[in-house]
Amino acid sequence: MTHSVTLLPGDGIGPEVTEATLRVLEATGVSIEWERFDCVGECAVERYGTPLPDEVLESIRRNGVALKGPVTTPVGTGFRSVNVSLRQKLDLFANVRPCRTLPGLDARYKDVDLVIFRENTEGLYSGIENYDERLEIIDTIARITRVGSERIVKFAFQYASTHDRTIVTVVHKANILKGAGKLFLDIAENCSRDYPHIELNDRIIDNMCMQLVINPTQFDCIVTTNLFGDILSDLAAGLVGGLGVVAGANIGDGCAVFEAVHGSAPDIAGRGLANPTALIRSAEMMLRYFGEGEAAGALQRALYETYSEGDRLTGDVGGSSSTMQFADHLAERIAAEV
Ligand code: NAI
Ligand code: MG
Repeated sequence: MTHSVTLLPGDGIGPEVTEATLRVLEATGVSIEWERFDCVGECAVERYGTPLPDEVLESIRRNGVALKGPVTTPVGTGFRSVNVSLRQKLDLFANVRPCRTLPGLDARYKDVDLVIFRENTEGLYSGIENYDERLEIIDTIARITRVGSERIVKFAFQYASTHDRTIVTVVHKANILKGAGKLFLDIAENCSRDYPHIELNDRIIDNMCMQLVINPTQFDCIVTTNLFGDILSDLAAGLVGGLGVVAGANIGDGCAVFEAVHGSAPDIAGRGLANPTALIRSAEMMLRYFGEGEAAGALQRALYETYSEGDRLTGDVGGSSSTMQFADHLAERIAAEV
């Protein structure tokens, strides 16, 4: 069977890690037909007058799946984030970010294995900002809805239940945000009644940050609102080797976009320094989403073996290989197995 997938290489290190990921995917032997769009974000603003052209959205809707590199968003000015728009327009409400230490990797922690479920369409990213120029007051609306909160919390419990996980931790700020925080917490308590075999607990966001740094192995599944999830997933990446190794998926009903947690890393772009592991692991999630478990397994084994041996890694994780040298090695390993 051939899978049709929309491909968005993005910008910055995006094209480099995408090329590396394509090399690795090719080695798995899974047949994929790519619909490739090289120009989104800044490039598309210049060429089409919009950062996210309609034909890109139509392609993802048609294929139901996309693989995406990072896209730069200008800070404090310019167009709205392509990443946020994509998630909202396609209603990809669940941002799933597994954070697991790779064998052999000299990370801060050796045995972290947690999954962050970040609500992906609302909260502080709703895009509702009112600026009173005369008074110089800005109101930014962090919209939280019952429907939006219920579906992400249910997604987390369902995932935990089907992946042999035992604890769901809800992260919130309900001591201060008594409305939004309490709504999220109440929904989690209600939802947990349908999953009596899964323990539910909760943490206030600030304490959560501290506990993740001190003792991350106490956590299993973490579910939270958009901004907290964004911050916690970079923090968690730091525990297991950095942004170069942590994958992600944006999932909605019948549509999914697989992308790494990291951004376009302009500080290292174009120099073959980027670690493609994060996008490769996102591609592995995509293969599992397709039901291509065998190919995903081969990819994962090759990755684990390569990390265990440790002599073909990129600079961010202590090696000296380039992006493509690492990918070529991985591809050879996979090809030898499948
Ligand atoms: P970033 O994630 O791009 O980089 C943070 C740090 O991690 C940098 O030092 C970078 O060199 C390093 N890093 C990131 N990915 C790496 C990789 N694969 N291998 C080795 N090192 C890696 O975050 P930053 O600098 O805050 O954002 C840069 C741009 O990316 C911004 O325009 C931001 O809006 C955008 N961004 C896009 C995302 C997306 O497309 N989903 C997600 C996050 C940020
Ligand atoms: Mg982020």
